[in-house]
Amino acid sequence: MFFSTLSLGLALMPFVSAAIIDIQVGASGLTYSPDAIGANVGDQVVFHFHAKNHTVTQSSFADPCGPLAGGLSSGFMPVAANQTDNLPTFTVTVKDTKPIWVYCAQGAGTAASHCGAGMVFAINCGQDGSPNSFTNFKASALAVGASLSAAAAAASSTAAPAASSTAAYAYTTAAAPAVTTAATTASTTVSAAGAVHTVVVGGTGILAFTPPFVAAAVQDTIVFEFHQKNHTVTQSSFADPCSPLSANGTVGFDSGFMPVGVNSTGPFPTWNYTVTATTPVWAFCRQSTPSSHCGAGMVFAVNPVQTSAKNFTAFQNVAEALNGTALAAQAPAATTTAVSGASAVRIGSASVTLLIAALIGSLL
Ligand SMILES: *[C@@H]1O[C@H](CO)[C@@H](O)[C@H](O)[C@H]1NC(C)=O
Ligand SMILES: *[C@@H]1O[C@H](CO)[C@@H](O)[C@H](O)[C@H]1NC(C)=O
Ligand SMILES: *[C@@H]1O[C@H](CO)[C@@H](O)[C@H](O)[C@H]1NC(C)=O
Ligand SMILES: *[C@@H]1O[C@H](CO)[C@@H](O)[C@H](O)[C@H]1NC(C)=O
Ligand SMILES: *[C@@H]1O[C@H](CO)[C@@H](O)[C@H](O)[C@H]1NC(C)=O
Ligand SMILES: *[C@@H]1O[C@H](CO)[C@@H](O)[C@H](O)[C@H]1NC(C)=O
Ligand SMILES: *[C@@H]1O[C@H](CO)[C@@H](O)[C@H](O)[C@H]1NC(C)=O
Ligand SMILES: *[C@@H]1O[C@H](CO)[C@@H](O)[C@H](O)[C@H]1NC(C)=O
Repeated sequence: MFFSTLSLGLALMPFVSAAIIDIQVGASGLTYSPDAIGANVGDQVVFHFHAKNHTVTQSSFADPCGPLAGGLSSGFMPVAANQTDNLPTFTVTVKDTKPIWVYCAQGAGTAASHCGAGMVFAINCGQDGSPNSFTNFKASALAVGASLSAAAAAASSTAAPAASSTAAYAYTTAAAPAVTTAATTASTTVSAAGAVHTVVVGGTGILAFTPPFVAAAVQDTIVFEFHQKNHTVTQSSFADPCSPLSANGTVGFDSGFMPVGVNSTGPFPTWNYTVTATTPVWAFCRQSTPSSHCGAGMVFAVNPVQTSAKNFTAFQNVAEALNGTALAAQAPAATTTAVSGASAVRIGSASVTLLIAALIGSLL
């Protein structure tokens, strides 16, 4: 609805003056408010720093809590608890419509990381449901926080368990349960480099990924090792398991076909996928000759929520019920593209208000 309101407005107006979009930093806890906005080229995003000591630092989707080389940064903005007006600001002028990912660098690399507690922000990110959505970005940041807390908890339990460490590890008790959701099966170590999960694709008489799903943390690598026949691993969606994910310019990943001779004993070709979020990722084999592999249940998932209705079995059931019919209607996807730039944006309500204000302003 917002989209149609906006595009109608933009269609009627020959030009719209650049908007000023205000973002409150730390006004209520560790937050940017609003936390995700759509902005046009020329718009100015003004960050207002509230009490405490936050930053606006540019990162990347792949590494939400690390500075982007050459990216923008406000530096630390300490504000006294009793200061409520004349707040310091930092202004970003939007130069293009590519996503801009932002985090607070306070406590970086420690269990007290503001970013790890979810203090992240985005301009022109992907729509909800697309790989580079704000939801996925924030989930990655929270996963970073969980691993930092886990590392701090491990350090505090092996080091002197006595007095002085309480302040440094103040966040460990709160964040500890998150670790179990980040890594439950194959890997238990959560390190900066990430764990490696090997998945065998196909094999003589086997139309399956083995194992069919993995629980993986952000930065883990999934090594797909292709065995007999001629398979792919191609990203899809829960709703449409046998169609390549492709929405508004955001294309899912695709290994391409990996033919392996019937008598091959290896080495087998591999294709790697680096996990960027703890939210579920769905995939399938798009071989349809002589019959649909997906329709035969050859599907795969990263981090399916097994305790929910959207579990792996449910996903596979949808694939088998479709029997590859959706696939047959689809042209093969483009080759390996992990996450491309977003053309769709999530529009925060504040920016909508401002854009509408700008439209009204230019009518007067
Ligand atoms: C703000 O935070 C930074 C990084 O933790 C620190 O170096 C600086 O001293 C802090 N400033 C104030 C005034 O607390
Ligand atoms: C804030 O508190 C400090 C000392 O507690 C005081 O010096 C300063 O004037 C106060 N500032 C405001 C804006 O009230
Ligand atoms: C693509 O964007 C249009 C509006 O630009 C929207 O109506 C449509 O639902 C989007 N499609 C998907 C699959 O997100
Ligand atoms: C693998 O399968 C694809 C799609 O069916 C086909 O185009 C390609 O020729 C196959 N490659 C080999 C070596 O069989
Ligand atoms: C595979 O091995 C079998 C038995 O050794 C042989 O008959 C067949 O020709 C081999 N196929 C290929 C493609 O090498
Ligand atoms: C995939 O990752 C593994 C483990 O990190 C590495 O040994 C292998 O060379 C990688 N393969 C490709 C094709 O990058
Ligand atoms: C998993 O999916 C299956 C098939 O849809 C369903 O029967 C089952 O109840 C689901 N499990 C949970 C825990 O929701
Ligand atoms: C799936 O399609 C094939 C033909 O492509 C057909 O032989 C088979 O019976 C179908 N299976 C189901 C479960 O509909």
